Amino acid sequence: MAHTSAIFESFPETSQRLLDDIEKQFQMDTKDLQKLTAHFLREFSQGLAEYNHPMAMIPSFVTGVPDGTETGTFLALDLGGTNLRVCEVELHGNNTFTLRQQKYKVSETLKTGEATVLFDYLADSVDEFLTDYASSSAPQGDLDRIPLGLTFSFPVEQTALDEGKILTWTKGFNAKNSVGKDVVKLLQDAFDRKHLHVKCVALINDTVGALLSRSYTAGKSVLGAIFGTGTNGAYLEDVAKITKLGNSSAVAKGGKMIVNTEWGAFDNARWVLPSTPFDNKLDRESINPHFQAFEKFISGMYLGEITRNILLALIDAAPKPILFSGKSTTALNTHYGLDTAVMSKVEEAWESIQEESVSEEKPGGNVIESTSAEATAKVNGKIVPPTPKVTLRFDPESVQHQMKGPSSLPASFTPQQVAALERIRAVLVEELGFSSPDDVTLRDAAIVRWTCSLVAERAAKLSGCAVAAVLVQTGQARLDGTVPDDAEKTRIGVGVDGSLIQFYPRFQIRVRDALRSLVGAEVEKVVEIGMAKDGSGVGAALCALQAVKQHPDALIQG
Ligand code: BGC
Repeated sequence: MAHTSAIFESFPETSQRLLDDIEKQFQMDTKDLQKLTAHFLREFSQGLAEYNHPMAMIPSFVTGVPDGTETGTFLALDLGGTNLRVCEVELHGNNTFTLRQQKYKVSETLKTGEATVLFDYLADSVDEFLTDYASSSAPQGDLDRIPLGLTFSFPVEQTALDEGKILTWTKGFNAKNSVGKDVVKLLQDAFDRKHLHVKCVALINDTVGALLSRSYTAGKSVLGAIFGTGTNGAYLEDVAKITKLGNSSAVAKGGKMIVNTEWGAFDNARWVLPSTPFDNKLDRESINPHFQAFEKFISGMYLGEITRNILLALIDAAPKPILFSGKSTTALNTHYGLDTAVMSKVEEAWESIQEESVSEEKPGGNVIESTSAEATAKVNGKIVPPTPKVTLRFDPESVQHQMKGPSSLPASFTPQQVAALERIRAVLVEELGFSSPDDVTLRDAAIVRWTCSLVAERAAKLSGCAVAAVLVQTGQARLDGTVPDDAEKTRIGVGVDGSLIQFYPRFQIRVRDALRSLVGAEVEKVVEIGMAKDGSGVGAALCALQAVKQHPDALIQG
């Protein structure tokens, strides 16, 4: 049996090596980020020059951003996030708006069934909203139809403000018989089948919505970005640089146009994106292998799944399990069984008691981080005394607890950290379906927290590259950290939305850290990242307003 005991003796070493190796695979230094951002810029240029690139760089036919004085009441329909939403948006013209909305679930059957069934469901939802929730369910004045803006958050090759062909589906949608068809027509046909007095006058992506709504509420912005179930960005580009538009009338007019980058498809060819077995497994088992490569590293739809893949590898580690004594649960064994919201809860439990690092919101929306010395910490403006460090008493019989883990996993914990680990344990028992708290040790809790932060940290760094690429593309920054002469010196507005940026602990701080390392502190500090709350609804309303101004007769039945 000498052989067996030798394996057991070497176990801590082996385990530690495995954890170190995983940590290494997830680390990205500034050089890696620079290389990635440079490649981003190359893909931007390709997508602006030619159609059919994965980074589609879609002209939106929206040729400016609002200034907050716009008024009117519009319907908006928003498909592409977690829920389908129908809204009535009233623009007050003083940077404010009122929004009534109703959310509707989109079942997996609808997401992957016949497109006409999905679009009939959208029309039924609008019908129900008009009957039960809207302030008025009839067209106004002499008009025959109520104007509606559609926010459709999937890649669409737009050919006009109210026209665009579906290129592909993302985020778990795959409606049959729809690719290549005009999404506005699919929706309008469904309205007409149901005899609704509603006219879809405008089509936008949610990123365009974020850019429009942030400009409406907070002043001119250059980028609208979503970090939620999916990820993407839209920015204001010089029409002259969108060379694939050829000799179209838009080019003759010149000026600016919002471009929807569809950056979720960045580096589908996998030249610069990192590669780990956990990401490869996710991609292979997804419904769109080799597509949306960037999105699969970043967005809320996938981070939980990457984390689940790592946790399973640790549970199944040989020669001895590293996690949960080798026990798994139904949730952990289920494809997409670990929601990114669970990671968020785990990191929140940890962050909430971290006295060393306090973040606060500066007026103007900039998030700043203040890191204090070991001895004292500032919590909500108060100085709190240092806490004595204690070492966790782990069961000495258990080899699992003797290992040190990778460098970022502390070997000893403060009482606050122990309290945080207890909370993480409770989250894991509850969310992953363990039958008893005894199934999860505090060391397990620490390892899960470490895993979540590795995955989220990488996601935020990659997100920072996308933002940096847009700043360089629009002449606000340079990749060598120097500042272009005509860059904005006081405020570069960025409107964001999505569950990750809104709720995931420290996500925005991590994005800003990466951004700073790429474009330098001088530019980063004037970047004002602010929530484009209800951007999809407000953006669709603002776009519908433009469309109605351009074609008022569209609301009169011909
Ligand atoms: C879609 C984009 C969308 C993004 C955020 C991606 O999967 O392709 O069109 O903007 O998700 O919702």
